[in-house]
Amino acid sequence: MDSPLAAREEGLPTVIDGETPDAGVIEAALRPAGAERDCCGGCRAASIIDPLLHLRHAHREQRDLCERLEAIADSLPYPDAAECRQLAHDVEEALDRHHRLEDEILFPLLRRRLGAQSPLQGSIDRLMVEHIEDRDHAAEAAENLMRLADGCKRCEVDAIAFQLRGFFEAMQRHLAFEDEVILPKAEALLTNEEMAQLLADFRQASKRCADADMPARTLRPVG
Ligand SMILES: [Fe+2]
Ligand SMILES: [Fe+2]
Repeated sequence: MDSPLAAREEGLPTVIDGETPDAGVIEAALRPAGAERDCCGGCRAASIIDPLLHLRHAHREQRDLCERLEAIADSLPYPDAAECRQLAHDVEEALDRHHRLEDEILFPLLRRRLGAQSPLQGSIDRLMVEHIEDRDHAAEAAENLMRLADGCKRCEVDAIAFQLRGFFEAMQRHLAFEDEVILPKAEALLTNEEMAQLLADFRQASKRCADADMPARTLRPVG
């Protein structure tokens, strides 16, 4: 299975077919092949079949994280301590791995195809700045979630709720722009050959991440 076209011919879900399939369908298609380590936001490294579908899947997972953050904010001042600890871990993991695939692989390719005069060049600049900000905010959210789990002072709760809401609302706006503008543009512009290259680069980046067992943010572009 080396390209989205091949995936489509075998009846597997691809974004080329239009509407993103249900998360369960995606999971079923992505699950079977080799790698054990969940390396980049939900997909097994050896079984990514469509790079843009992979990103949409990761976005769906990040929306789930946003809903969990909102649930914690709504529950204050009586949060679920176990959920706070789990969420503190999940938030930083999801962003690190996902941002690398966009910043180092998808965006450079899309920039070349858009041309220098495209207004989306500025949008991509903004998205990359937001990645940095979101990782900083994720780190702050993780600290705040751990403070909640450990039972922080009542007077700190309002400030923590404000920080959590600001973080997940910004992340939701970012995801919406990528899903509604960036990924459709990539689907429209990229040739089957470029999609196959994107797929290969995603796989290689995921494999390097798994082999090196290193933070995804430190990996360099492939090729
Ligand atoms: Fe994204
Ligand atoms: Fe992004």
